[in-house]
Amino acid sequence: MADLFAPGRIGPATLPNRVVMASMTTRAADAQGFVTEDGMAYYRARARGGVGLITVEMAAPEKAGRHRFHELGLYDDRFLPGLSRLVAMIHEEGSAASIQLGHGGGHTRKDICGETPIAPSAVPHPVLEITMETIVPEAMTKARIEQTIRAYVEAADRARRAGFDCVEIHASHGYLISQFHTPAENIRTDEYGGSLENRARFGLEITRRIKAEAPGIGVIYRLTVEDYFPEGLPFKDGFQIAVWAAEAGADAIHVSAGHYRSLPSAARMIPPMWMGEAPFLDFARKIRRVVNVPVIAVGNLGDPDLARQAVASGEVDFIALGRPLLADPDWVSKAKEGKAVRRCLACNSCVDGMRGGGRLHCLVNPTVGRELLFANGRPPGGEKIAVVGGGPAGLSYASLVAEDNQVTLFERGDQLGGSFRLAGLAPKFQEVETREGSFRAYIAALERACRDKGVVIRTGTDVTNDPALLDGFDRIVVATGAAYRHGLGLAVPALLRAGAGKWPGLARLMTRPGLRDWFYHRARYGTGNRFPVRPGQKIEVIGDARRAGKAMPAIQSAFAAALLGDPAALDERV
Ligand SMILES: Cc1cc2nc3c(=O)[nH]c(=O)nc-3n(C[C@H](O)[C@H](O)[C@H](O)COP(=O)(O)O)c2cc1C
Ligand code: SF4
Repeated sequence: MADLFAPGRIGPATLPNRVVMASMTTRAADAQGFVTEDGMAYYRARARGGVGLITVEMAAPEKAGRHRFHELGLYDDRFLPGLSRLVAMIHEEGSAASIQLGHGGGHTRKDICGETPIAPSAVPHPVLEITMETIVPEAMTKARIEQTIRAYVEAADRARRAGFDCVEIHASHGYLISQFHTPAENIRTDEYGGSLENRARFGLEITRRIKAEAPGIGVIYRLTVEDYFPEGLPFKDGFQIAVWAAEAGADAIHVSAGHYRSLPSAARMIPPMWMGEAPFLDFARKIRRVVNVPVIAVGNLGDPDLARQAVASGEVDFIALGRPLLADPDWVSKAKEGKAVRRCLACNSCVDGMRGGGRLHCLVNPTVGRELLFANGRPPGGEKIAVVGGGPAGLSYASLVAEDNQVTLFERGDQLGGSFRLAGLAPKFQEVETREGSFRAYIAALERACRDKGVVIRTGTDVTNDPALLDGFDRIVVATGAAYRHGLGLAVPALLRAGAGKWPGLARLMTRPGLRDWFYHRARYGTGNRFPVRPGQKIEVIGDARRAGKAMPAIQSAFAAALLGDPAALDERV
């Protein structure tokens, strides 16, 4: 039986385990595309956390393919010193290193890449990069196709010279190679258009040419096997391309799905919580049965038991994690030791913020992209700490300080979870349709992390009725959440529990931005300032108790208090 934590091989690369970090655009590169210290610290945290193979984010093989501002550069030798330093660090931390060769094709703009975007055909593309604009790319001539293939080969060779063990060919999600695959975007009549064989030719030629002309580096073929829209690539065709990619010499097939034209939305490629766990795993299983190279599965695989089982069953060889490694960079080392990991909610706040122009962030882990800032934190140590309130902020705080302090968490209700017990009943969380299970799993894992680290949890205990319970603590951390005004305190939870958040008319009303803002901010007030000051004890107010708002600033203040010694330390960065 294969073990998620046993070494594995992809082409020439040996991986210490079967966990691959999926490519995720961070915008941590500088404006020219050079590696920065912030980028180094971000990848170091994931390598140190035990990931088997780090896939460094999408980098274009030629300038015309740059698809975002602050995208990492790989199209020129001047990027080599920074990339070499990045790879050396990843290796030093014990992980293998890969980089994604990704070309925006028609899914970029001249103001981003500096050149006229190219694509298989001059089909209009709606491009969301900070703003949404529709562009018409230039259809590639055969000479231009050859020039781009050459650029891929040179980029793969540059990656090899930088020390990378593998490159990943990005043939997914509606970028250049995927545009060749998708009938709606490829209306060519030459040998690169028409039949499936012709539409697959471009990506397969790139694979063969890299194998032949840049030998020595592993080649992973990352493929969208299902586009999820009527004129897109259906799974039966994606399956066939996966088989051909293995025959063309790919050392592994990485099975993804979704396209920026997917229905109901582009979000499907980064499966939001409503898609449930492991929505693409079955595609990977089917491909694994017919190819003779390793298969990597991806998509909502952040439950360690599920990930372990996917590999143990032999149905896939590796699992890739994207957002779960944002939520918890130590996912691998914790899962290996049977410890609780901080679970990703699949709320897609990270990707929505990044597409809107922001640096990468995570709602449940505010250290993402700020690893350097948190490296110089001043967490409390050797104290007796009482945390009052067991919602996401209180639990986050307790889990972060528990190892170096004696922590007791008091929760008035019978169950932990606070506002997250209702969030799953609302129609939307951030910009995605909710699924209760996502919040339950997150809270359960946080509770387990607290208990494993020795936090004493006292539910059904209202310290305001019995303040003597707080005697003897050095620090009181108030995480009592926000309360509703206007007598809504009973009505809102009752309505949500009755399922009103999913009644179509009401759900539409509740997702209106103005009303949501009112629900989070103006209709509620933080309860923290009502907490009595107690002489000789430090008091800190965190989460919604400090200022009624959304989950992100609430969790952020818990991290800032626990690790930086000041709940307000990140306020201006919300
Ligand atoms: C912020 C963010 C950026 C991403 N950027 C890329 C990318 O540049 N290339 C790519 O192939 N996939 C990209 N993805 C998709 C991930 O690689 C992965 O397929 C997806 O998040 C599903 O895996 P997960 O459920 O483990 O997060 C991105 C995902 C996120 C969250
Ligand atoms: S922002 Fe949300 S979806 Fe993204 S990694 Fe964090 S919890 Fe997961």
